[in-house]
Amino acid sequence: MIGPDYYITVNIKKIINPAGGIYYHINAIYYKKNWQSFISLLNEQLMAWQPSCKNIVIFGGSGGYCLKPEFVNQFDEIVHIDPDPLASRIFKWRFQKNIQINCKNYFSKGLEGLSDLKKDFPNYSILFSNILGQIPYIVKIDDNYPQSFCNILANLLNDISWFSFHDLLSLHFNKPNPALCWPVIIEGDSNNDLIDRLQQQTQLRPLKINIIDHFTEGLLPQTKSKIKLVWPRTPTSYHIIEATSQT
Ligand SMILES: C[S@@+](CC[C@H](N)C(=O)[O-])C[C@H]1O[C@@H](n2cnc3c(N)ncnc32)[C@H](O)[C@@H]1O
Repeated sequence: MIGPDYYITVNIKKIINPAGGIYYHINAIYYKKNWQSFISLLNEQLMAWQPSCKNIVIFGGSGGYCLKPEFVNQFDEIVHIDPDPLASRIFKWRFQKNIQINCKNYFSKGLEGLSDLKKDFPNYSILFSNILGQIPYIVKIDDNYPQSFCNILANLLNDISWFSFHDLLSLHFNKPNPALCWPVIIEGDSNNDLIDRLQQQTQLRPLKINIIDHFTEGLLPQTKSKIKLVWPRTPTSYHIIEATSQT
């Protein structure tokens, strides 16, 4: 018989997961002020997006820390997908909005499971809320990644309105608040170019950097609307975020 321990184990796994969970909530509260300029720029992009459908699936919604109420309030129905049981509670509390909570793991059988989103929510727009760069932490990937996922996304997204903001690169410094000229770095038009620009700025400094590629470059279909932003997640971790959408 499955006893209460079983549920405790499952919930703890969901609350402490490498793509978010309790540490993410703590960071979001603790570094709230540092995130504000990133959130403002991101929400300008979100408000400029004109989805054809006013029902939305927010995939990887967490507490909605990067979303502003003006954006969230324009939707009639919101489906919040996140296996972390704290996430939807915090989201509901922050926005005081009725949401449909969905804790299904669309990746339980691998990447293909994501295609079910369109079957489950045929009349919805989709917001990938800083999730696509976390896929290698959530699903076991093979050598065909990211090409295999690129094809799945192309099929899923060809006839719906969608928006995604996701990590391109994350940069982890050995010292806090590196004084870098971020606007010059994010002008780079590929990950390699971004890294070259970063290296140009750091070559004469005693600064160590660990760079993580999140395998999202070229992952989504080409769109006219695509920009790069810097998210200072903590004083030592900076993420280069891409925001892109289709109406
Ligand atoms: C980087 S956080 C998202 C940030 C958030 N959207 C915000 O506005 O601050 C990634 C989120 O993805 C969630 N996640 C992890 N596995 C998932 C899955 N299989 N399906 C949907 N969400 C998942 C995590 O629980 C976490 O809340």
